Amino acid sequence: PAGPDTTAALLDWYDSERRELPWRSPPGRKADPYRVWLSEIMLQQTTVKAVIPYYREFLRAWPNVRALAAASLDEVLTKWAGLGYYSRARNLHKCAIAIVEEHGGRFPRSEAALRKLPGIGPYTAAAIAAIAFNEEATPVDGNIERVIARLFALRLPLPAAKSEIKRLASTLVPSDRPGDFAQAMMDLGATVCTPKRPSCLMCPIQPDCHGYAKGMAESLPLKLAK
Ligand code: ADE
Repeated sequence: PAGPDTTAALLDWYDSERRELPWRSPPGRKADPYRVWLSEIMLQQTTVKAVIPYYREFLRAWPNVRALAAASLDEVLTKWAGLGYYSRARNLHKCAIAIVEEHGGRFPRSEAALRKLPGIGPYTAAAIAAIAFNEEATPVDGNIERVIARLFALRLPLPAAKSEIKRLASTLVPSDRPGDFAQAMMDLGATVCTPKRPSCLMCPIQPDCHGYAKGMAESLPLKLAK
């Protein structure tokens, strides 16, 4: 069954196979909360590939949260053009101002405090807490949902399964590396534990995977018919 050995195998895999992405700091280096936040907002409804050039351009124009807060909303919207879902850009600017005016220019580290900021919902708060601050938070996006549903051969369909998936995922979070764990799950879901034709034979946690053992990995997670 999945447990501490599963977490260890996943982290070993991440240490050797992790994707180099511009918002990831080198192993052992502290993450910059501003960069983590900016990437997570951009990645909410947009693919990694589409986000990368925008992410680089934003960082070049506004290297920190104070610079972004000092920009005009128009400038931010202009640079956002093409990414879509423009409420994200409005909230991004609003959030930068709130960080400067209400938090002295520093991101709060707790999930609860992050949740109160514009544009930061449950997923994003958990992702920033885990990745930027190594808080024991458990972000669950579509990739992580799929990995967990398969790992535990969860028969409960989405969306009802969401809270059970979050609970199961949280049992695997290592207290020393919650941010790496979250990003390892994201990478596994994006490159190995894919929606169709998952590469189970290459999967570092296949020995613990209930879905694989039952021959049903590809059919999970179940989804309630619309
Ligand atoms: N999708 C959302 N956040 C991500 C991250 N930190 N790394 C890779 N993919 C992601």
